[in-house]
Amino acid sequence: IPVDPFDLVIFGGTGDLARRKILPGLYLRFLSGQMPEDAAIIAAARSDHDDDAYRAIIRKAIDEFVAKDKRDAKSIDAFLSRLSYVQVDAMGEGGWKELAGKIRKGMVHAFYFSVGPSLFGALAERLHKHKIADRKSRVVVEKPFGKDLASAQELNATLAQHFREEQIYRIDHYLGKETVQNLMAVRFGNMLFEPLWNAQYVDHIQITVAETVGVGGRGAYYDNSGAMRDMVQNHLMQLLCLIAMEPPNAFEPNAVRDEKLKVIRALDPVEPKDIVRGQYGPTGDEPGYIEDSENPESRTESYIALKLGISNWRWKGTPFYLRTGKKLKARASEIAVVFKDPPHSIFGEQEGRKGNVLVIRLQPNEGMNLRVTIKEPGPGGMRLIEVPLDMSFAEALGADAEDVPDAYERLIMDVIRGNQTLFMRGDEVEAAWAWTDPLIEGWQGAGTKPATYDAGSSGPEDALALMHRDGRRWREIA
Ligand code: BG6
Repeated sequence: IPVDPFDLVIFGGTGDLARRKILPGLYLRFLSGQMPEDAAIIAAARSDHDDDAYRAIIRKAIDEFVAKDKRDAKSIDAFLSRLSYVQVDAMGEGGWKELAGKIRKGMVHAFYFSVGPSLFGALAERLHKHKIADRKSRVVVEKPFGKDLASAQELNATLAQHFREEQIYRIDHYLGKETVQNLMAVRFGNMLFEPLWNAQYVDHIQITVAETVGVGGRGAYYDNSGAMRDMVQNHLMQLLCLIAMEPPNAFEPNAVRDEKLKVIRALDPVEPKDIVRGQYGPTGDEPGYIEDSENPESRTESYIALKLGISNWRWKGTPFYLRTGKKLKARASEIAVVFKDPPHSIFGEQEGRKGNVLVIRLQPNEGMNLRVTIKEPGPGGMRLIEVPLDMSFAEALGADAEDVPDAYERLIMDVIRGNQTLFMRGDEVEAAWAWTDPLIEGWQGAGTKPATYDAGSSGPEDALALMHRDGRRWREIA
């Protein structure tokens, strides 16, 4: 279904995110027929280009970042003809009149701030001064949304001077992932799971976001951030919220975001013994974190595992174990809901039995898998085994699964539609920082160093111990 006609202005239109994600994503939406005839994409940045030079940059980006079977010469030309470029000085006055001249009346107007947060204020101010933005315009901002509570509050206050909350779209691209939304469909579209979704039946929940890449190339950013700020405060926190929240009364922006916020506010403080931080070491020719970050003294974590508790009626007593890291053995993101054992085994004690687990696999190989107990086939008596009830989305949905839009494609179209459900509200971001800050201050104050782990491993040994001491174990990263 095509969206309404729009003018989308991308500040930072020549930057890495624009070339890797935003413009390839827009091209794919164009290809699918979702972009109306008169949609215009206006890139604004500091460097001096004309429209043709900019189109050449994006042609190259499409070649590099769009799959070959989706690259159709005619469609690419048609898409590029929607693009134009304006040289704009974010901190000065240059280019703003020209930009104003390009904005058409009666369209949806969206401004994507694909630039560092230090420019948000200057951009917002000039958009208003030159009457480019109004009360209906939408503004899209990216992470990092602050580095702690104080800076996030400041950013929110800066944006609030110029835009109402209903106009602000804070992207967490994890919310745009297909399976993440499926999580809500599974929980609230079935009767099967929700009655069991609480501390009475769930033993614990594991959330894993494992990556194989290191931080080489973006060490300077990363070293000031670390896994806690880069991944946990936003992406893992959002996954935790969707898994743990109460059913919203409707799939609507504020109904969903109210419930997520309640989860964050109910999080217990985390004790230092429940946090394990790690840094990958060098392997063979490959540099370790210290070399990648170019900071020999670095105490920044490239891996973190945490045990969390949620103090509310539903979850009191069920631990949530979270882990994320770089240079691990596989790229694997999943949420595993591990159910308790039946209260009594009528089959007697059986060695090595495992209980029910529902695994929601985010990437790669998106799908769901429910481990259930059955009888081992054959005449050997009542021996129990576990088998998976498997649903690979690619298999179940066939060709449709291939057309699933990437997170950015979906989120940008949601901005144009004016749907904020999959975007973070200001108070949510602040609550997440309010929970994160004391943990970071805790280890910074104690001056603790992260443990070194081998690149290509499952992370530091201590992370295994974090679960072992509770009589539990992490799932294999695979
Ligand atoms: C980004 C982080 O937000 O998410 C990166 O800054 C990380 O460090 C990336 O690699 C992971 O995203 P995805 O979609 O590849 O899982």
